[in-house]
Amino acid sequence: MNVSWDPDRYDALPLPHEQWGVGVVNRLALMGDETLVDAGCGSGRDAERALRQLPRGQIIGLDSSTTMLAACKRRFAESKQVAVEVADLLEPWPVATESVDAVMSVAAFHWLPQPKLAWNQVSRVLRPGGRVVIDAGGYSNIERLLAAVGEVGAAGKLPAWHYAGVDETVGYLSAAGLTPVDVRLRIAPAYFDTDQIYLAYLKDVVLHHLIDKERVQVAQIMGDRCVDYVRLEVLATKPI
Ligand SMILES: C[S@@+](CC[C@H](N)C(=O)[O-])C[C@H]1O[C@@H](n2cnc3c(N)ncnc32)[C@H](O)[C@@H]1O
Repeated sequence: MNVSWDPDRYDALPLPHEQWGVGVVNRLALMGDETLVDAGCGSGRDAERALRQLPRGQIIGLDSSTTMLAACKRRFAESKQVAVEVADLLEPWPVATESVDAVMSVAAFHWLPQPKLAWNQVSRVLRPGGRVVIDAGGYSNIERLLAAVGEVGAAGKLPAWHYAGVDETVGYLSAAGLTPVDVRLRIAPAYFDTDQIYLAYLKDVVLHHLIDKERVQVAQIMGDRCVDYVRLEVLATKPI
């Protein structure tokens, strides 16, 4: 199920993604000269944050959404350090084998029905000694919200998200030849200040394919303007 992302409306929202991105960039512990892939870069918010710590580095942003990529290209129009490529993360990435020092990804891996394929690509593009940090929806993510969507009869309008758990992810990492360093689930509910903002968030970030009336019903069932996120946080390295 394709989602038509509107990067302007997306970026204007109070996105919990911003804090997830801060965490990912911090955990990367960049030295300043690395080459970094941002897998599912969207409009480039996290790449911009990482770039501040890469005065001599390079970033390759990958995403399959043409609207998100156009916004990302606009953001980095003046930068010679950032390349933005259209790519399906489930296909071979347009990045040379063992050519990058680090891979990051924020809020993208749960959009992949077969994350194993993407983990294999992470391993292929990383140089020995390289590292990967991701933050994505994890096992039992948004369970209450999904139950509310089911109650209004709109479950068939949801994308095929895949919320991997710790054991499953460690399995993918090991099979891909990566060493898990820290793989965990973190309960991270997000609350929104007004009904208007909550409904806009549901529309542009989570429940794209529902109609307005269904989103209002979901919001009424939830009752607390919450999106009950559970994050899968991964740090792994490629052995030397
Ligand atoms: C919730 S957005 C996150 C974007 C950005 N990382 C952020 O945190 O704002 C999810 C992104 O994953 C991208 N995406 C989803 N499935 C993808 C796939 N198979 N290949 C490449 N990108 C994908 C979407 O186009 C979208 O930009």
